[in-house]
Amino acid sequence: MDSIYLTGDRPTGKLHLGHYVGSLKNRIIAQEQKKTTQYIMIADQQGLTDNADNPQKIRQHVNEVLLDYLSVGIDPSKSTIFVQSQIPQLAELTMYYLNLVNVSRLYRNPTVKSEMKEKKFTKSVPTGFLIYPVSQAADITAFKTTHVAVGGDQLPMIEQTKEIVRSFNRTYKTSTLIEPNIILPSKQNQRLRGLDGQGKMSKSLNNAIYLSDDEETIKKKVMSMYTDPNHIYINDPGKIEGNMVFDYLDIFSQDQNKVAKLKEEYQKGGLGDVKIKLYLNEVLQELLSPIRKRRQSFEREEEYLKEILKSGCLLAEEKADNTLNEVKEAMGINYF
Ligand code: TRP
Repeated sequence: MDSIYLTGDRPTGKLHLGHYVGSLKNRIIAQEQKKTTQYIMIADQQGLTDNADNPQKIRQHVNEVLLDYLSVGIDPSKSTIFVQSQIPQLAELTMYYLNLVNVSRLYRNPTVKSEMKEKKFTKSVPTGFLIYPVSQAADITAFKTTHVAVGGDQLPMIEQTKEIVRSFNRTYKTSTLIEPNIILPSKQNQRLRGLDGQGKMSKSLNNAIYLSDDEETIKKKVMSMYTDPNHIYINDPGKIEGNMVFDYLDIFSQDQNKVAKLKEEYQKGGLGDVKIKLYLNEVLQELLSPIRKRRQSFEREEEYLKEILKSGCLLAEEKADNTLNEVKEAMGINYF
């Protein structure tokens, strides 16, 4: 059977290295697979669920995220890139699915739970935010998605989508909706930690290297990374565990023999932090410089960027409309 991939990102910030290893790389692989159709959605409606007072921020980041996609090699002639809010069928599907999910199940979704904590929502959680997993089920099922390539934090969303699919098919005695599979990055890449080693790389923790950062900024960030606080003199033995520089070298260096040698030297004592940081800087500059250059080549092509989204939305709407019609038929609410 042919595969249909659907993924997406909230346009609330630029994409960073965590996104790159966590899901973008898998989307580039999917894009090159034969017999795979890939949809990539900029989830502006989901972004609005906790940014209702700042639609301008979301609007600006629709463009930034699109540029980030193009910069890493997502090719709009191979992957359909579209914007969630422009496909009204998704909101309509959400309305029907909402009746199949109870409120306590939504409060129990682990990702929603931890986000609510982080954003200090309690009883005051906006309803749209609480129900976004249901809207995400609509996004996924509208395209008859077989695979979702995302980071590990999205696992609960896929679980909830599967439940909704089963509930819909059972309730309306149909096989209209399809249960998706999740495609996760390798364990090591699932949760890239931030520069400070504190938590995962994220905008809110201010510990990220963005795909669009310039050379100077990357270097400054690398030089500020958390290493081993007890490694004070060069000749002191240093620790590898919890040392973010080695964490990143494990993931990003193409020369793992060299990394193994550096680790050995560092643990013995005699290798300074500056040296390993300069090497990581070299590795990251090599990765990010072509990405940044590609981004710059698209930045001023406003008409072209609009055209990508417009034609992506047209394709996406057609597909979502077909599914919506099948859903209404299955429910028997196709009146005329
Ligand atoms: N929840 C995703 C995020 O946090 C965005 C998203 C919305 C998504 N709808 C989706 C991802 C459907 C995969 C499939 O950024």
